Amino acid sequence: MTPQATYHFPRGFLWGTATAAHQVEGNNTNNQWWKWEQEGHTNGTSGLACDWWGGRWREDFDRAAEAGQNAHRFSVEWSRIQPTPDQWDETALEKYRSMLRGLRERGMTAMVTLHHFTDPIWLTEVGGWETDEVVKRFERFVRKTVEALKEYTNLWCTINEPNGYALNGYVGGVGDWPPGKRNLKLGFQVMANLIRGHAAAYHVIHQLQPEARVGFALNYRDFQPLHSWSPLDRIVTANTFNGVMAAFPSALATGVMSYPLGKISIPEAKGTQDYFGFNYYTRNFVTFDLRFPNRLFARDLYAPNDDLSGSGFLANVPESMFTGLKWVVRTFPNLPIIVSENGVESADDRIRPRYIAQHVHQMWRAVNFNWPIKGYFHWSLVDNFEWDAGWKYRFGLWGLDVETQKRIKRPSVDLYAAICKENGLSSEMVQKYCPEVFEKIFPG
Ligand code: BGC
Repeated sequence: MTPQATYHFPRGFLWGTATAAHQVEGNNTNNQWWKWEQEGHTNGTSGLACDWWGGRWREDFDRAAEAGQNAHRFSVEWSRIQPTPDQWDETALEKYRSMLRGLRERGMTAMVTLHHFTDPIWLTEVGGWETDEVVKRFERFVRKTVEALKEYTNLWCTINEPNGYALNGYVGGVGDWPPGKRNLKLGFQVMANLIRGHAAAYHVIHQLQPEARVGFALNYRDFQPLHSWSPLDRIVTANTFNGVMAAFPSALATGVMSYPLGKISIPEAKGTQDYFGFNYYTRNFVTFDLRFPNRLFARDLYAPNDDLSGSGFLANVPESMFTGLKWVVRTFPNLPIIVSENGVESADDRIRPRYIAQHVHQMWRAVNFNWPIKGYFHWSLVDNFEWDAGWKYRFGLWGLDVETQKRIKRPSVDLYAAICKENGLSSEMVQKYCPEVFEKIFPG
């Protein structure tokens, strides 16, 4: 007989999805990604995306609410709010206010990201995040935006995945992102300015809204040496983990950015995290490879028997989410944790149900150690423009027909809805949506 059981979560747990402005809004013509797309660096262009700027956020929020989600994380687009250095677009701000009202009317908690990979073209023309003048500019933008939106939320994510932004734009390898430079030293300079920008944003938000909860979202990866017996593999793995991935949160804890090329003191960053934003997708093995000097000789790969996503972009390794949460709790004690992204690309939805169930299960294990996890945002609500990969990777609970804007419901919608409504994961759900992992989640 199959066991009947439910893994429940604490009352008030946030269950939502996450999106980002450029990936869903459409016609974001005034940022560096649009330009990058027009120059032919991406697999298709964002175009209308999910047409949220045209108002389709309404129908997507309706679907999310009907599917039991009680929260949503979205981002605002700097290039819309401040189209030129001396101009604020009040209609753009009003549109974000109506989206926030839309969430409130549907009983959903809003989490707002202020920077999710995109920069206004005017900013990149004056050096973007490479020069430290960006800190004042970002602070001005944050002040204006938070003043306009604070009536509707107090949960802020300053910068999404600064490690991804710096690495993909200045080192390359995983994807080719603007500005497409190959300069590790400059990449770390950008990282330092992102830390300064976050710190400035943290202070200004608290000044405007004392009760605000401010953090950023780290792209956590479980990096493991390919050959644990190899000192070189162990060194490059430690560099990738501590020197690159953990540099940002460690600087917020200590006021010093330590990275493989040195140390930079950023005292104003110390203590500027009210919660830990944890984005987790996958585990990578790392091996020493002389062909990658710019990546500090580290090459990442998946294991031959990994459970790979639809196009092989990610490996489904739920235990590594637990490993990551444990690392957060031990390294950054006393911070509430929000799983600000987790998801998988799969157009046919074959892997997604088990990916969701297995990750929710690992998160439940973590909650049972009393680790302070407050919510989970699945990436993503609907298929959206996936940066350099364009429309190749489909991360939505709902699919999107890009030509017609039609939403296509995937089976995962119902599984995730059942989890949200139950505030837990039951054996019946696993039996129904992903029986192939039943034994792993409900052994014996
Ligand atoms: C990013 C998202 C992206 C997702 C899937 C995250 O690293 O924040 O913008 O779409 O991964 O690749």
